[in-house]
Amino acid sequence: MHLIIFGAPGVGKGTQAKMISKNFLIPQVSTGDMLREAVKNETELGKLAQSYMKKGHLVPDDLILKIIKERCLKSDCYSGYILDGFPRTIPQAEGLAQLMIDMQLPPFTLVEVIVPDNIIIERLTGRKTCESCGADYNKLNNPAPADNICTVCGGNITTRQDDNEKTIKNRLNVYREQTTPVKHFYQERGKFISINGNQSVDQVYQSIVNKINQLDESEQTH
Ligand code: AP5
Repeated sequence: MHLIIFGAPGVGKGTQAKMISKNFLIPQVSTGDMLREAVKNETELGKLAQSYMKKGHLVPDDLILKIIKERCLKSDCYSGYILDGFPRTIPQAEGLAQLMIDMQLPPFTLVEVIVPDNIIIERLTGRKTCESCGADYNKLNNPAPADNICTVCGGNITTRQDDNEKTIKNRLNVYREQTTPVKHFYQERGKFISINGNQSVDQVYQSIVNKINQLDESEQTH
């Protein structure tokens, strides 16, 4: 299975990608997670990426394409993977299309998740994350403990640098201007499904699985 989980910041891409990864036994390839890891480890990539991420801007395409190529060549990606947060621009979509040709991959299915902006802002301003294990807390449905010590690993729970209202609004603008054209790229060339993300986490997951199955069935009958 080769999937792209697509949508604005905060629609639940990471949450759903983790569930699909666990249930279908394929890795989640998240450019955001890889970049945050590089920032944490103060690598050259991390130092370059940090200034863009802090403001909610996109990291340059050439850096992103390089990390994606390296990651997708690893052996755990052999029978498929879920791209989370990539591609985000037309040059990235074109880079992925070339990678598919070079690696003789089947077409990706793009799963668009849609959530209204006011709900996105509520989710992202309420989010906290463990610095060590990445566990997700949200004051909406799973608040962080008062001492901000992670209940999973004992690490520090903090707010992501880009999860303040000003930067969230900027991320939403960047999404509309630079990332939505990628949706049309896949509507014209690839497999595309659209999901209402403004439901419970489990309902969103079930909608994704149902629509993927429907797509597979309709392909088998044609
Ligand atoms: P990235 O890490 O990809 O962030 P994002 O797209 O802004 O998305 P988020 O991680 O904030 O949200 P999500 O949609 O994954 O939702 P989540 O499941 O976490 O990118 C960060 C930055 O890195 C970018 O701004 C850019 O600078 C750079 N970058 C990354 N990729 C790049 C690329 N390809 N090119 C260039 N630059 C790149 O959920 C959010 C919250 O909502 C959580 O607390 C969760 O618990 C909650 N939630 C989820 N689903 C539900 C639900 N159904 N109901 C209620 N709450 C829910």
